[in-house]
Amino acid sequence: MNKPANDPLHVIVLAAGQGTRMKSALPKVLHAVGGKPMLAHLVDCASALGAAAIHVVYGHGGEAVRAWFDAQRADAPLHWAHQAQQLGTAHAVQQALPAVPDAARVLILYGDVPLIGSATLQSLLDAAADGLGLLTVTLDDASGYGRIVRDAAGRVRGIVEEKDASALQRGIREANTGVMTAPAAKMRGWLAAVGNGNANGEYYLTDVVALAVAGKTAIATVSAPPQEVEGANDRLQLAQLERHFQRRQAAALMREGLGISDPQRFDLRGRLRFGRDVQIDVGVVIEGEVELGDGVVVGPYTVLRNLRVGAGTRIESHCVLEQAQLGADCRIGPYARIRPQAELADGVHIGNFVEVKKSRIGRGSKANHLSYIGDAEIGSGVNVGAGTITCNYDGANKHKTVIEDGVFIGSDTALVAPVRVGRNATIGAGSVITKDAPADALTLSRAREQKSFAGWQRPAKRTVKSEE
Ligand code: UD1
Ligand code: CA
Repeated sequence: MNKPANDPLHVIVLAAGQGTRMKSALPKVLHAVGGKPMLAHLVDCASALGAAAIHVVYGHGGEAVRAWFDAQRADAPLHWAHQAQQLGTAHAVQQALPAVPDAARVLILYGDVPLIGSATLQSLLDAAADGLGLLTVTLDDASGYGRIVRDAAGRVRGIVEEKDASALQRGIREANTGVMTAPAAKMRGWLAAVGNGNANGEYYLTDVVALAVAGKTAIATVSAPPQEVEGANDRLQLAQLERHFQRRQAAALMREGLGISDPQRFDLRGRLRFGRDVQIDVGVVIEGEVELGDGVVVGPYTVLRNLRVGAGTRIESHCVLEQAQLGADCRIGPYARIRPQAELADGVHIGNFVEVKKSRIGRGSKANHLSYIGDAEIGSGVNVGAGTITCNYDGANKHKTVIEDGVFIGSDTALVAPVRVGRNATIGAGSVITKDAPADALTLSRAREQKSFAGWQRPAKRTVKSEE
């Protein structure tokens, strides 16, 4: 897909618009689709095309935009061109051109049209050869768009903006997507000749088309799939783009063998690697880098974020798992929370309302009900009883709990860290363990004797006048 070296591709992304309709403090192009800023989709697409340079024309909120890319795409060949005043799309392109060599080919993209595919762009580049290439789209209702004006022979004569169009021209269904490619030297010449005598008083990039016609430059058009050229001007359109993106992504993943119960209710905001026969139920949200081994099953309404899961593990509904590693054949949830730096070995069971943070849990160990396990090192074959809590925090510092292999912790035990429970030890239910418990012994700490008071009466309800 790379362009030949004698015709370096310079991509110019127009992103200086304010995006007022988003009503947001975040610059429009940083709003995400599929968990990734719109502008990042374009930068990645340009990289896939083998762009020698990617010029971003920015205006409002430029500092935040640059900061994101400095942190997340430090290796992309990005150049930043500031457009202080938004005088129009032609003026925007002019801000980037000084950094583009005459020998280059420019490809102009829009920062708020993020789903454009590299295959579509490549076919536009191929069709344009050394002339002007326009990406158009045929719509039932093209209102709001610039219209492609052709002569009787079907040759492109120009683009007319909606506000400047005649009633007849408004009936044209072939619209300008805004995506355009041309040799840099020609683009430079045309832009110098573009004026702002139009309904908006703006320098229109679309005016270069008539200039190309006048100069007898060949013009090629390629028709885009409508979903690829939809823009996001407000949050409703952004949400629509998100659905397109997710459906497309789900379809691709299903073709690769991923089981998705309902592609309408699938959300991947990052990258998912998966083995055979992985099944994802409805409402699951997957973020960051997630890897699921063969036969992993994920129940409904679960969140998986930066995670590795071994083969055969089952994650039930309503779990939140983040930045952790799970071995094979584990059983998780429903309603489990696995937090950063949790490492579960094979065959571990983490049940309902159990939270695990920064802990290692050995092979076949179980914590099935209502527990907090934090800063702990748990061996294999351990049974953590219901309601067990590692008291890892003394209000200032975190301390570690060590539970060796084969230990049985009775229900409702508080393990006050730092503390160690020796191999095969048993802890009696209801204990508060403040000192190390020796191996192979029963340790318990509770009120010494259990008392019973015969004939004791529970307090009676006072009779109240009003009815319930
Ligand atoms: C533009 C096209 C129109 C096309 C439509 C497709 C022109 C004159 N019109 O219209 O033919 O059908 O896109 O969506 O080009 N921008 C800047 N600086 C500026 C002005 C705009 O960076 O001074 C950026 C915006 O942030 C946006 C893009 O350029 O990403 C398009 O600008 P916008 O004002 O939305 O153009 P439209 O009027 O929609
Ligand atoms: Ca627009």
